[in-house]
Amino acid sequence: MAHDMQRVRESDGRMLASSGAGSTEVGRSGAMLRVSGLRKSYGEIEALRGVDLEVAAGEIVALLGPNGAGKTTLVSIVAGLRRADAGVVEVDGLDARRRSAEVRRRIGLAPQDTGIYPVVSVRRNLLLFGELAGLGRAELRRRIDEVAEALDIGELLDRQAGKLSGGQKRRVHTAIALLHRPALLLLDEATTGADVETRGHILELVRQLAAEGSAVLYSTHYLAEVEALGSAVAILDHGQVIARGDVGDLIGAHAVPVVELAFDGEVPAISSHGGATVEGNRLRLPTRDPAATLVEVVPQVPPGVLSSVEIIRPNLEAVYLALTGRRYDEADREGAREEATERKGRSVVAK
Ligand SMILES: Nc1ncnc2c1ncn2[C@@H]1O[C@H](COP(=O)(O)OP(=O)(O)OP(=O)(O)O)[C@@H](O)[C@H]1O
Ligand SMILES: [Mg+2]
Repeated sequence: MAHDMQRVRESDGRMLASSGAGSTEVGRSGAMLRVSGLRKSYGEIEALRGVDLEVAAGEIVALLGPNGAGKTTLVSIVAGLRRADAGVVEVDGLDARRRSAEVRRRIGLAPQDTGIYPVVSVRRNLLLFGELAGLGRAELRRRIDEVAEALDIGELLDRQAGKLSGGQKRRVHTAIALLHRPALLLLDEATTGADVETRGHILELVRQLAAEGSAVLYSTHYLAEVEALGSAVAILDHGQVIARGDVGDLIGAHAVPVVELAFDGEVPAISSHGGATVEGNRLRLPTRDPAATLVEVVPQVPPGVLSSVEIIRPNLEAVYLALTGRRYDEADREGAREEATERKGRSVVAK
C-alpha cells in the first residue's frame, strides 16, 4: 500500500480524460475508481482542491476527514450527482462524464442525506432503484429478499420510507446501494447514527462485497471501526488527500504516542522536551516514552489545576493528529470511545 501512497503523491492532477488507450491503462493497473485533479468550488468555498485517489477492485478504502473536508462532495461527484469544475473520474476505466450511463450502472451509492422517495414504501423504493440499476424483475425480487435479510429490514419493507427512524433509513440506503452488487460501492457515513448491530451488518456486507471483487469507498467518523475493518485509509483535509495507505503503515509512519494534559483554565508554563503544543486548555506532548514524560512533567503542575491526563496511543487518531494538528472533533471522539467500549465487551447497545 506504500506503493499506492507514492502513486497518489506523484499524480500531477492534470491527467486528461481517458481515450481508448487510457481505458486499457486503467484496466491494467486494476483501479476500479481513479480520481485525478478533482476540483470543486461552491462560490467562494473551495470544497475540493485537486483530489487524486485510486481504489482497486476488491479494496476497501475508508475516507476520513473532519466536517467540511469535502467527503460528500467527492462521493457525489463520483456518483454523478454533482459536476466537478476540473479533473477526471474514471470508473472501471470509463470516463464518468462521457460514459455516465454505463458508469452509473457500476456504482451503488448510499448517500449521507436522504436518498429515498419518502412517500412510498421501502419495497417500492428498492424496486425503483433496482430497476434504475438495470436489474430484471425476477432477479430484483430475489435480491430484495437477500439484502432485506442481510440488513434485517424484512419487517420494514411495507412501511412508508419517509416515516422510518434515522437508523432504519440508513439500512434502507445501504440496501439500495447493494442491490445490484455494484462494482464500485460508495457509502457516505452509512454507519453514522446506526446502532451497534446495524453497523455490524453493514460492515459485514461491505467485507463480502469487497471479497467478491468490488471496490468500496466509504466515509466514516468512527476511527475504531476503520481499525477493526483493517481497511486502507484516505484522509481528506481541506479538499485534498493528505494521506493514503493501510492503517498499520500509516500508524508506523506518522504516529507517536501523545501525552495530553487538560487543565481547569489556562495551561500553566511547563518545560518539557520539544514538540509540545497547546490547544485551548490542553497541553500535548508527543513522546516515544509516555511514562517518562509524565514523570518529568506532572511534578511541574501547580496544585489543583489539572483536570485530566490521557495517553493517546499510536492509533489512527494519533495519525490524524500528527497529520492535521487536530484531534477528531468531540462528537467523533464520542463515537470512537463508544466503539472502544463495545470492543471491551461492555454493554452499550442502543435500544
Ligand atoms: N451545496 C452546497 N453549497 C454550498 N456549499 C457547500 C455545498 N455542499 C457543501 N458545501 C461546502 O463545501 C465544503 C465541503 O462539504 P462536504 O459536504 O463535502 O464535507 P464533508 O467532508 O462531507 O463533511 P461532513 O463530515 O460534515 O459530512 C463545506 O465547506 C461545505 O459547507
Ligand atoms: Mg459529508
